[in-house]
Amino acid sequence: VDDGTPGRPTDAVDMRRLRERVADAGEDGPGGRPKYHLTPPANWLNDPNGLIRWDGRYHVFYQYNPAGPFHNTIHWGHAVSDDLATWRDEPVALSPSPDGPDRDGCWSGCAVDDDGTPTLLYTGGNGRDQLPCLATTDDPGLRTWEKYGGNPVIESPPADLDVLETEHWRAEFRDHNVWREGGRWHHLVGTGLADGGGAALLYTSETLTDWTYEGPLLAGGPDTGAVWECPELLDLGDRRLLHVSDYENVVYFLGTVEDDEFVVESEGLLDHGDFYAPQSLDDGDRSLTWGWLPEARDVDAQWDAGWSGALSLPRVIETGPDGDLRQRPADEVADLRTERLVADETVALAPDERRRLDVSGAAIEIEAAIALDDAEAVELSVFETPDRAEHTPIRYERDGTLSVDRAPSSGDGHAFADAQSMAVPPYDEPLSLRVFLDRSVIELYANGRHCLTSRVYPTREDAVGVSAVAEGGRASISSLSAWAMGEAIPTDDSD
Ligand code: FRU
Repeated sequence: VDDGTPGRPTDAVDMRRLRERVADAGEDGPGGRPKYHLTPPANWLNDPNGLIRWDGRYHVFYQYNPAGPFHNTIHWGHAVSDDLATWRDEPVALSPSPDGPDRDGCWSGCAVDDDGTPTLLYTGGNGRDQLPCLATTDDPGLRTWEKYGGNPVIESPPADLDVLETEHWRAEFRDHNVWREGGRWHHLVGTGLADGGGAALLYTSETLTDWTYEGPLLAGGPDTGAVWECPELLDLGDRRLLHVSDYENVVYFLGTVEDDEFVVESEGLLDHGDFYAPQSLDDGDRSLTWGWLPEARDVDAQWDAGWSGALSLPRVIETGPDGDLRQRPADEVADLRTERLVADETVALAPDERRRLDVSGAAIEIEAAIALDDAEAVELSVFETPDRAEHTPIRYERDGTLSVDRAPSSGDGHAFADAQSMAVPPYDEPLSLRVFLDRSVIELYANGRHCLTSRVYPTREDAVGVSAVAEGGRASISSLSAWAMGEAIPTDDSD
């Protein structure tokens, strides 16, 4: 779609130049731009959108502002992969049409296969309205899209529902998740209700362009966030998972759908840190989920960097034999490993004696099992300078708390310094951890169930060390392995 916007990059070569320009500006050490997580070539990224496997390739679109590292005039950026490990920047896929119902932004939405035609349903921003728009393509590379002439495909929120109106919006009504079930299209829209609480509204259709409102699939009530953004319903076999983003967290509900209503059996958070607005792709036998990892540094620092936002690793979400949620990185993430730094070692920790581990790097993966024995806590300190002036403690405590303390992470006053934590039930001992360190990302997977992602910004080149200490007793680290990781988006000219 060429909207004639001057200066908008329109081909893959321009996208690569953009990426290289920002790469040249530095940010390739600790605290810099992630190496093996997806980032925009330059400028701004938020939610992952339109995830689809098409013609044998994985496509990730994302909320993108080509004008700078701030949220405005949102387009859809695009990256493509053959193997889920390495990616290529593609030209901007969707742009606001100056006179269209998406003239102020092409906000979040999804992609579906409509009987052989790739089809997007996304949020068009237009003045005080946010309404669903449709676009299709016959390009197998999904680079160019044709917007449907009848957009928006829903004219207004349901007349019989009192949807929240704000100073800016006639109604909070956005983010589209569409799937096929029982011979019909189903469609969730995120909203907030005037009498309080977010809701995921359900529509059905034969055609994708003519929708019937069925009612709320689930409404949170006054104690939940005022608006639910980016609702998504996943089919995990015996159960369904509904997740919504409530401005702060990604809340998930496990349960079943009966008569178009979600029956909640349990709930929790998909991630306890900097992770928002995730979206998933079903590639046949698994559900792969990416989330937006927003910056945890102020606007000035984002301007200086020239880019903002990263995506999580692709996560496989499923239920275990106990019916509980399981989360792990897709197996293909292991293809990013370039060199094994440590292989299956055991480290005994004496009380209160810090050990430097034989692992270092700004873009590495660490796998370990931690047994507390008689210690009160074990602290694994990462992104550590030799003098420990900068380091980020990952603490595992006897009461089952796993936390990331960002106070000592960075000497840069622009970086956020608050701690993040989650509960990891102590009965799961020893704690099995996968730690993905990627310059300004710490993505933690605990016991294959619980996730915590933190953005951190060490400033020093030598903030690459890892040490461990057991507090108040003995502890041990076993099955310790580590790998150096390669680039998700190679910037050389080899292709
Ligand atoms: C979530 C969100 C969505 C919206 C998009 C705009 O982060 O606010 O609700 O569609 O981002 O970029």
